[in-house]
Amino acid sequence: MTDHADTDAAAGPVTTPTRAEVAERLRAAGVPSPDADARWLLEGFPSDPAGLADAIRRRAAREPLQLILGTAPFRWIEVQVAAGVFVPRPETEVLAGLAIDRLSDGAIVIEPCTGTGAISCAIAHETGASRIVATDINPRAVELAKRNARPHPQVEVHHASLFAGVDPALLGAVDVIVCNPPYLDPAQMAGVDPEVRDHDPYEALVGGESGWEVIADLVAAAPHWLKPGGWIVIEDDPSRVDQTAQALAHHVGPSSIEPDLTGRDRFAMARRA
Ligand SMILES: C[S@@+](CC[C@H](N)C(=O)[O-])C[C@H]1O[C@@H](n2cnc3c(N)ncnc32)[C@H](O)[C@@H]1O
Repeated sequence: MTDHADTDAAAGPVTTPTRAEVAERLRAAGVPSPDADARWLLEGFPSDPAGLADAIRRRAAREPLQLILGTAPFRWIEVQVAAGVFVPRPETEVLAGLAIDRLSDGAIVIEPCTGTGAISCAIAHETGASRIVATDINPRAVELAKRNARPHPQVEVHHASLFAGVDPALLGAVDVIVCNPPYLDPAQMAGVDPEVRDHDPYEALVGGESGWEVIADLVAAAPHWLKPGGWIVIEDDPSRVDQTAQALAHHVGPSSIEPDLTGRDRFAMARRA
C-alpha cells in the first residue's frame, strides 16, 4: 500500500511507502528502533520518493540514521555529521550537562577528543564560557567541528592530540575539562552494532590495547591545566569507570561517578583540590 506516487523518467514510478511499511523493512533488517527511524526518514525526505527510497535502503544496510539525515540533535542544538567522524550519542548529552552545570560566565573550557564539536558547541550555546578549546587527532573531525563551531566564535578547534594544541597560557587556568574519549578495548569491538563497527572510526572507539590508554594520558595531564577548584568530567565504559574515578582521585582530587540515561555508571568526575 502506498500513499502517493511520483515518476522517475529512467526507473518508472517511484512510490512513497507508508510508515508501517518502512518500519517493517527496517525491523526485518535488525534496526533497533524501526518505528522511530521510519518516522525520521519519512519526515526527512518529504516530496522526494527517490531520496526516501535510497535513505531506507541505507538505513536497512545499518548506516546510522544521523549520517543519512546529515545532522544529529544534541541538547538544544543540531550539529552536522559526516562519514569518517564519530556520531554524537544521547548519553553524551548527559556528559555535556555535567560540564555545563559547573560553568559560570567567563569560564575557560578544554574539550579533548571533540569529534563533531557537539559538546563544545552545546557549551557555547548554553553558557557564558568565554573560551572553549577543542582538539581531535582526526583531520575530518577537526574540519567538521570547525564548521559546526562557526556560529560560536568562543570555540577554537585544533588538530592535535589531547592538550598538545592548547595555548600554554591556559596552564592552571581552566575551569572545566570535559571529554568523551575512545574507551573500548579491541575485544569489545566484537560486541558492537554494525552502525558503530562499520561507520564510527576505529580510533574514535578504541582507546589502545587496554581501552584505557587515552584516559590514562588525559587524567595524568589534567591537573596541569585545571585551576584550583576546576573540574574534569569524563565519559567512560561502565566496566572501567571505577578505574578512571580512582585515577582521578589520585591525580586530580576527590572524585565521583554518575550514571547515564539507562542507569549504568558512565561518567567519572573530579575537582582539583
Ligand atoms: C568517542 S569519540 C567522541 C567524539 C565527541 N566528543 C562526541 O562525544 O561525540 C572520540 C574522539 O576522540 C578522537 N581522539 C582519539 N584519540 C585522540 C587523542 N589522543 N587526542 C585527541 N582526540 C583523539 C577521535 O578522533 C574521536 O573523534
